[in-house]
Amino acid sequence: MNITVNKGRLLDSGAELLVVPVIKDRGYSGLQELGADFVKRIDLLAKAQEFTGESGQTLTLPAPANLEAHHLVLVGLGEKKRETLLASFLELGNSVIQLAKKLGVRTVAIDLGAKDLQLPEFVEAVSTGALTANYAFDVYKKDNSKHKVGDIDLLVTDGRAALNLRKSVERATIVGEGVTIARDLVNVPAHDMTPERLAQAAEEIAKASDKLIKVKVLDRAACAKLGMNAFLAVAQGAEREPKLIHLTYTSPKPTKKTVAIVGKGVTFDSGGLSLKPADSMMTMKCDMSGAAAVLGLFATLSKLKPRVNLHGVIAATENMPSGNAIRPGDIIKSMSGKTIEILNTDAEGRLTLADAFTYILREKPDQLVDLATLTGACVVALGEEVAGIMSNDRALARSILNSAKSAGEKLWELPLPDCYRSQVKSDVADLRNIATNRWGGSLTAGLFLQEFVGTTPWAHLDIAGPAFAERPFSIYQKGATGYGVRTLVDWVAGE
Ligand code: BES
Ligand code: ZN
Ligand code: ZN
Repeated sequence: MNITVNKGRLLDSGAELLVVPVIKDRGYSGLQELGADFVKRIDLLAKAQEFTGESGQTLTLPAPANLEAHHLVLVGLGEKKRETLLASFLELGNSVIQLAKKLGVRTVAIDLGAKDLQLPEFVEAVSTGALTANYAFDVYKKDNSKHKVGDIDLLVTDGRAALNLRKSVERATIVGEGVTIARDLVNVPAHDMTPERLAQAAEEIAKASDKLIKVKVLDRAACAKLGMNAFLAVAQGAEREPKLIHLTYTSPKPTKKTVAIVGKGVTFDSGGLSLKPADSMMTMKCDMSGAAAVLGLFATLSKLKPRVNLHGVIAATENMPSGNAIRPGDIIKSMSGKTIEILNTDAEGRLTLADAFTYILREKPDQLVDLATLTGACVVALGEEVAGIMSNDRALARSILNSAKSAGEKLWELPLPDCYRSQVKSDVADLRNIATNRWGGSLTAGLFLQEFVGTTPWAHLDIAGPAFAERPFSIYQKGATGYGVRTLVDWVAGE
């Protein structure tokens, strides 16, 4: 899809669908030129359909006969508050695409209306909403020629502003590509999205990066040599070969800061011998969504060139039951030297992350962030749309929460209560991989991870809820959402 920004009037645009965003109870001044009679008819229709301009409301009507357009649609933006407007513009982009698809329309023009709405963040948001909604995962379908919208023209009143706003569209497009990469990686079923294929994806991203990104891939033997027995314990039941994927982005701009980002890369989580029930297993191809977010982020780096050096680490493996699988009760020695009693093989994510942390801490990053579809408990706590963040560092947590806010991704802080630390201590080993108590499962998972970060400022994002939409929500259709990419981009490359 091609998004453009131009100075121009909606009624002169040759687009098939004309869009008028409406602030709640404010009227639609741009349409006066259609004549008092037409506006009066809109008023009557709006009244009849209770359209007030509330965010998410739409009012579709046939365009006047003298225009090239087929349809005119009013889309509510809600009240004129900066905080809520960002979400409304995301939603605007989304609903315009949904409508265009329904009407079979290929070209759309959106009148950005009042000058104080023609802001970079709103243009980026409407573009993001549209790009996200125009996504389809249909490579496994015989008929994959589903309707897609071709062009969106964003109309503004000031030519000079248009120039600047084009940069926002460009940025949304770059980030959108990263999000699409992440969504595709997650949506591809696990029989195709193997650890090896994840490693290939990393290599392709590096190849396209003008040498700014390098990748190292370690196989089972190389990981064994490093003592990554926690990671390999998860991998030992899997026939597919595990891969430790290590990407390094070196900023072309001078910087002293290095950040490590670890993504959980369990390409399929059957639970292992602690087998999941059939219903819970159905979506477990999504258990590498953290890894996908890391790769989505890295795909944007050579274009955005953030001023920070970055490590991306993915300990990729399947979690499968087999005659060789790790057993509940087994004790393994992690790369850090700490021993772990494995009591539930379905709590495998933390095992892979523990060794990934130890591996990358050797590079002494200034900050460590991980993204993981780690616990069902986080979905119980925060629902399907909101991810949880836990951190040992206030400033780090704050800055990621701020980035999530400007990216329009929902993130809420959860604690790492000291009083629960004893719950991950084992009688026979240093740690146990499930808590002694079933409550607060996201927190005890976070506390387990904390045992492996030392004093490095660290933040853990549990994305089990929003990574994969089991039903459509917000601007996402069913399936992978690419959650985390936009937050991470804002965090490493925000202005
Ligand atoms: N991959 C799952 C968590 C998950 C659940 C992700 C729902 C996405 C949606 C994870 O490996 C897991 O199975 N966690 C267990 C931990 C338990 C055994 C302590 C869980 O949440 O039940
Ligand atoms: Zn699991
Ligand atoms: Zn898992």
